[in-house]
Amino acid sequence: MYDRRKFISFLGKASLGAATIPPFLTGCGNTTTPSERFKQMGEKTLKRLQDLVIESLAASDQDDLLLANGLNYHTVIKWRDQISDSDSFGFNNDFTCFIPLDQSNPKDGLLWVNHEYVNPLFVSNFNSKHPNNHKEHRTIEQVDKEMYAVGGSVVRVKEENGKWEVVKNDPHNRRFTAQTPIPLNWDTPIEGKTTAIGTNSNCSGGITPWNTFLTCEENYHDCFGETVYDKNNVSSKIPGLYGWEAFYNYPPEHYGWVVEIDPKDGSAQKHVALGRFARECCTLYELEDKRIVAYSGDDKADEHLYKFVSSTSGSLKEGTLYVADTINGKWLSLDWESQPILKEKFKNQTEVLVRAREAAKLLGATELNRPEDIEIDPITGNVLVSLTNNKRKNDYHGSILKIEETNGKFDALTFKASTYLAGGEENGFSCPDNLAFDLSGNLWITSDMAGNAMNKADEPYMPFKNNSLFVVPRYGKDQGKVIRVASAPRDAELTGPWFSPDGKTLFLSVQHPGEQTTDLRTPTSKWPFDEDGIPKPAVVAITGDLIEKMNQLSQIETSEG
Ligand code: FEO
Ligand code: CA
Ligand code: CA
Repeated sequence: MYDRRKFISFLGKASLGAATIPPFLTGCGNTTTPSERFKQMGEKTLKRLQDLVIESLAASDQDDLLLANGLNYHTVIKWRDQISDSDSFGFNNDFTCFIPLDQSNPKDGLLWVNHEYVNPLFVSNFNSKHPNNHKEHRTIEQVDKEMYAVGGSVVRVKEENGKWEVVKNDPHNRRFTAQTPIPLNWDTPIEGKTTAIGTNSNCSGGITPWNTFLTCEENYHDCFGETVYDKNNVSSKIPGLYGWEAFYNYPPEHYGWVVEIDPKDGSAQKHVALGRFARECCTLYELEDKRIVAYSGDDKADEHLYKFVSSTSGSLKEGTLYVADTINGKWLSLDWESQPILKEKFKNQTEVLVRAREAAKLLGATELNRPEDIEIDPITGNVLVSLTNNKRKNDYHGSILKIEETNGKFDALTFKASTYLAGGEENGFSCPDNLAFDLSGNLWITSDMAGNAMNKADEPYMPFKNNSLFVVPRYGKDQGKVIRVASAPRDAELTGPWFSPDGKTLFLSVQHPGEQTTDLRTPTSKWPFDEDGIPKPAVVAITGDLIEKMNQLSQIETSEG
């Protein structure tokens, strides 16, 4: 059965810290549905929930970060800010994750931020969009700048007088870049090496029960290309988008993994057992016996949903990787030893993991419409998976898929799949990407419509205007509605929503503002409106009355006993 107490016993993406565990999440039965929960709430609680009003923000194409009434923001850190005398914050921040240094103080801790990819025009002054430019024109100095700007950052941040600030030169502050050596957590070398050079394409991520960060390598093929195989299993190489391999010939097989970062000592490792693909995220659940279940999506059209179940406690190495057949509700094992069809094609388990996509297809895994972020609903125990879109299959607006594991057991080998929420004009959002649950179980969703398709009259995204942040209240008169609460600057995407442990701050990345810029003198966005007029990706802290009210529902119930 789904054990809610277990779920919140470690910091999940909703940052359900021990000091702020919503009592209603710990106090209810294992399979309580939201509607049954309402019956259990006191009259006063229900009245207050009914009274919670969230004013929706209208869709906007304005070049600014706009917020609904009751919310405000300040910038915590942005591209090129010094985090220490020797290092600066990277580009295109995505996943954020905050871990307090001391559980008793939710206002002082370590913030992890992913740096997903570069726009060479801004980072290395290489205009890849110019028709006469080819990637071969790039210099090693330009490539080095680009490789420094991806990966991730650890920064110590503190909140004082309502404002989060970076503690510059804190000993924890450090960068992980496309040149940082990172060991591969596997018994046999991959492409002859036991250590990969660098991490790149760091999109979303996760957190472990032992308080380390997980950063996921998504579109790695852009960096050093990809090895592909024909029907006779003969390999060839597809080049990367950036031309980095002209200077650094790193094997593509070293990327596409889950990377674990220990912010305390700066150590890192790549978890091979979890498989290799365009990995969006890694969402963990700790079972009663401390074994780990890890869910991940492969964000490419017609790719798959995976889960790893460890065979020993706390391991991200010993265990079995499965891929989802959502039609028949089955988790299919990617175990070389027990699957004859895998033995026929691949030499060993390592090859299955490196070529996980091909192995998944051989087993008959279901093609999905770009599985992105995954979160576990703290109220129902269902696993929600964003399916962003799949234009090839005429799915322009995407949906959120609901996985109900059999008997609520996360290590089950069967499940039921259904649509939780569909994108489109009726529900007011398109292309769901990141998901987060707040302390009261409300669902927050960011959208990721492509920069070159937004606000275009001939595209189906026109009515939605700029990318946005939405909330789906779980209580009150707006229960189940999708309400827009933030609108991004031009061309930007809002990513990496993460609540502070006291539920009073929502950390959020503003990624790729002004991405459609072709000339630095006339950028398509100027956010965050620095003097130089250059748009900059940044992490903001969203605070305000509305966030506090939405996160206080549990405390209302506490006061009623
Ligand atoms: Fe980097 Fe799938 O978003
Ligand atoms: Ca994403
Ligand atoms: Ca995305």
